[in-house]
Amino acid sequence: MLRYLQEDEWLIIEEGLDRENQKKSESLFSLGNGHMGMRANFEETYSGPSLRGLYLAGIYYPDKTRVGWWKNGYPEYFAKVLNAPNWIGMKLVFNGSELDLEQMKVDTFCRTLNMKEGILNREFVASWPDGKRIRVETERFLSMERREIGAIRYSATPLNFSGILEASLFIEGNVFNEDSNYDETFWEPVSQAVIDDYCILHTRTGKSNFDICMAMHTECSLSNDHTSVSHDQILREKYVSDHYNINFLAGDKIRFTKIVSVTTSRDYPKEYLEEQSIKRLREATTAGYRKLREEQVLSWEKKWRTGDIIIEGDISAQQGIRFNIFQLNQTYTGHDPLLNIGPKGFTGEKYGGSTYWDTEAFCLPFYMSTGGKEVARNLLLYRYRQLDKAIENAQKLGFNNGAALFPMVTMNGEECHNEWEITFEEIHRNGAIAFAIYNYIRHTGDEQYLAEYGLEVLIAISRFWSQRFTFSDPLQKFVILGVTGPNEYENNVNNNWYTNYIAAWTLFWTLDCIELIRDKYNLDWKLILEKTNFNPDPETSRWFTILNHLHLPSDEKSGIFLQQDGYLDKEQQLVTDLLPAERPINQHWSWDRILRSCFIKQADVLQGLYLFEENFEKEVIKRNFDFYEPRTVHESSLSPCVHAILASRLGYSELAYELYLRTSRLDLDDYNHEIQEGCHITSMAGTWLALVEGFGGMRIIGDHLHFNPCLPIKWKSLTFTVHFRNTIISININQSGIRIHAGGIEEIELFINGKGYKIKSGTEITINH
Ligand code: BGC
Repeated sequence: MLRYLQEDEWLIIEEGLDRENQKKSESLFSLGNGHMGMRANFEETYSGPSLRGLYLAGIYYPDKTRVGWWKNGYPEYFAKVLNAPNWIGMKLVFNGSELDLEQMKVDTFCRTLNMKEGILNREFVASWPDGKRIRVETERFLSMERREIGAIRYSATPLNFSGILEASLFIEGNVFNEDSNYDETFWEPVSQAVIDDYCILHTRTGKSNFDICMAMHTECSLSNDHTSVSHDQILREKYVSDHYNINFLAGDKIRFTKIVSVTTSRDYPKEYLEEQSIKRLREATTAGYRKLREEQVLSWEKKWRTGDIIIEGDISAQQGIRFNIFQLNQTYTGHDPLLNIGPKGFTGEKYGGSTYWDTEAFCLPFYMSTGGKEVARNLLLYRYRQLDKAIENAQKLGFNNGAALFPMVTMNGEECHNEWEITFEEIHRNGAIAFAIYNYIRHTGDEQYLAEYGLEVLIAISRFWSQRFTFSDPLQKFVILGVTGPNEYENNVNNNWYTNYIAAWTLFWTLDCIELIRDKYNLDWKLILEKTNFNPDPETSRWFTILNHLHLPSDEKSGIFLQQDGYLDKEQQLVTDLLPAERPINQHWSWDRILRSCFIKQADVLQGLYLFEENFEKEVIKRNFDFYEPRTVHESSLSPCVHAILASRLGYSELAYELYLRTSRLDLDDYNHEIQEGCHITSMAGTWLALVEGFGGMRIIGDHLHFNPCLPIKWKSLTFTVHFRNTIISININQSGIRIHAGGIEEIELFINGKGYKIKSGTEITINH
């Protein structure tokens, strides 16, 4: 664990510039607004180690797959979110010396991310070897209100010298991804121009043919009227710049304002892109920097009003959860059903910015509870729109009759992951997509979604499971052979309990849904039959047969579910048997040794017991938890949160707290030594789950919310808010009890520690232990 940032409830603060931490801070201080996002690179030149990153949601490049041995069915490419033209750039040269903190002595430095307002600030005093000193203050944000707008304010005060500043405020299109298979150039030039004093850079991605247009307006204002400024504009291929020559005196404060609009052909026809970019920019510059800033503060205030979690008595935990919530809201806002959540959001290149099962299994509840129904619905619609591609994908692998296998990794519905043991075998992802529909409906009550979209997806997934189950003669049971479960430290195993369970559950629930839609939404039902060519009798009768002869591996002696048929054949060891020097095992052991070992990367059987908790006795969950937790190395960031929730439920409070801390400050304290690559955005949703479902003990059972709170001893109180059906409920848990306030329009009935209460809208109840 590494901690170099200051603790604060609302701010992330870095005091002093340690260049070793630069790439880490670039990840941690990232900004985003759902439409675009960027690492916290400096505006001015920085010649030290840095990972430049500015990403636009949904803009990707199909980077040709690189594998040694091609296998039929492999995807042709891996979609990469692109490092887009750098619009924050400034080159500042004072009397011939360039401002570059790598080459200068940094006297003071402070970088602050204000999570309450969504604003990044920096202040430093630095000097060149010849003794010239300068003070700089910067501020930047990506507007939440106007998603295509970003703004920077940059002030420089030469402290002890006079002279000439040559400043170029530019947009640079010659940018690269560190993670590129063939070092191809991802961006082609389209045009660069000056229109109405705005610099415009229009570029196009190779292969995927997305156009993006950035328009920039800059201003320079000076604290001293006598200072003279001349200004011109420079254009060359993939580069535009506002160039200033400024004669200044020592102590003059030179302030630049840079406002940029970023439009993409995802949103507008290409021929109108430049016009739209100028339009957006003109609206923003007319409003002015101060107004844009005010809007930003208000937008975030609104987000925090329903999204905040307050922890009293533990500043470190408070900062941790706010950081997680802040990053989740920066990554996805739910305004566009064609967008989704990359595991690193806009904070790095890893995982290509693509969609994983993380969205359905981990992220959905956060957005559903804090963002509301529409935001969550858009996450589901994303998959609905990709159903045809999922059917094609399954066809490529030899399935038929409308069976769908959703991809493990995708940008546009096509599979782009190419490790066979994941691409072809980690099919449990299909189950998470079905579960998300169930989760959404029980949370929002939006049955209509099922009639219009959901059932179609469920039928296609069920068809896949039905074909993927095969009948084993010796067992006289239906089995699923050759899979990888959530635990990627075992491949090609037979009957992964989690996969078999979620597959069977999907069949079971789809049967329920069919009945509901056929009886209650008959018109929709007819449309579905037509669209899917669904033949209920023969198809569902096979599903019933599978359910009646299902193989779920278990061990009678210990009373646990088996992670897979052969799990107990492995040499049984515990994580406590590992030497500290061997951890993480994925960096110290051969892959072969990992696969042969019993060590578990992330929740697997326990993932199932978490999702389907209400189907199991507490005693069963306890037995499995006691068996699997000591064998789990938690080398996926998605793991500790699931264990934390179950630990809370089982009354293992200390363990729950320890696991919770590991997820909540995973990035801030760089537990995994990889923060320089970007933040773990999807695991941040897991942190939220660990608080709300773990310590808050929130569950939805039937049509009702249940709370079984268990607050860590260290905390005075925990407060959070959730949207549920037509109400907004605020929950405050302290050491002596729980207080619940019901907003919205309806009276709500809910359960606290198993006892039912009715709360009228606008009122609250307090229940003491
Ligand atoms: C995990 C997967 C996850 C992926 C992206 C991997 O390390 O094992 O479950 O989908 O990371 O977060």
